[in-house]
Amino acid sequence: MNDRARSQRIYQRSLAVILENQQPGGAYLACPTMPDYQFSWFRDGAYIAYALALDAQAGDVFHEGSMAAQIESAREFHDWCARVINDRAEAVERSIERAARGEPPVLADTLNARYRANGHAGPDDWPEFQLDGVGTWLWSLAEYADRAHTPPLPLAWERAITLAARYLAAMWQVPCYDCWEERGGDIHISTLGAIYAGLAASSRLVPSLNWDDTTAAIRRFVLAQGLTPGGELAKSVGLDMVDANLIGVAVPHRLLEPDDPVMRRTVARIERELHAPGSGIHRHLEDVYYGGGAWVLLALWLAWYYLEVGERQRADDLIAWAESRADADGNLPEQVPDPMLASAWHYDDWVRRRGPIAQPLVWSHAQYIIARRMGGGAQPVG
Ligand code: BGC
Repeated sequence: MNDRARSQRIYQRSLAVILENQQPGGAYLACPTMPDYQFSWFRDGAYIAYALALDAQAGDVFHEGSMAAQIESAREFHDWCARVINDRAEAVERSIERAARGEPPVLADTLNARYRANGHAGPDDWPEFQLDGVGTWLWSLAEYADRAHTPPLPLAWERAITLAARYLAAMWQVPCYDCWEERGGDIHISTLGAIYAGLAASSRLVPSLNWDDTTAAIRRFVLAQGLTPGGELAKSVGLDMVDANLIGVAVPHRLLEPDDPVMRRTVARIERELHAPGSGIHRHLEDVYYGGGAWVLLALWLAWYYLEVGERQRADDLIAWAESRADADGNLPEQVPDPMLASAWHYDDWVRRRGPIAQPLVWSHAQYIIARRMGGGAQPVG
């Protein structure tokens, strides 16, 4: 198969993986094959729905789906999120009141990172309290509304947007698990980026919401307390460490512009410490999950960043690497154990306990669609 046919196959497969695996009711399972991932995350789904909105907007329908199918799928996911949030309105209100009184959250009243397709919570032993997903969902919903020309919004969406935004505005300084579901006692800079973007998006969606003071406070906080001694963004407050998830602070969350010097320094350190030569991107230097391999979705995320700052060759190299890791059917994994940061023992142990690395990982496919739709890849889309 030549390169063009291979890219095309991965692109088609990416759309198919998303559309074929969407559950009745709108949820996107993170991976159709891995038991741990039979849940719909706000975060993964937000990027998946965004990828579909971008693809639909491009309108050059060369694939077997249709623009309507993409938009409809994203709409169903947003509807699912709105339902999940509205169904928990009383608990969320209690969280908001508690935060206003300066009291720590009661976990049972916070929103989970993921729910079952039927909207029910999963087992209690998961690090569910993560604020970034709700922020990223609001961002994705505003991007969807721009492209699908939906106003006026359904009342149920307006309720969920307002509730979610009030929740984030009340809770942004509360430590929570990060987007890798780790370090629950810290305040994470990438999480603050997602909250910032979510609040800004909520005002675009519901103009009576105004969070200018809160978003300005979040930005000030990040610049005052969220930097390393070297002037990069820090993984979490007080840590002299970067994490590849910091790309999100600029792309897409725009707390900083992609060419801001702080962002440039952060990406340079991610390149130095986390970009495995000739391979993908590690999450952070302490990663042991499946041995701490090279992540496909992060390579594509970094490509997205480079496309936004006009560094096309770097983007294309990352996309080409991601393409080289697809299987014969075009399925992309979450990560590859090549190279790993931790010992092979960790990899074997995770495989023993949880099964093989997730593949296809639907979020990886979403990042592939995004990177290609943003203009990356040696071949044009289509
Ligand atoms: C990742 C999360 C992701 C989840 C589902 C976890 O391993 O750390 O970021 O949301 O998988 O894809």
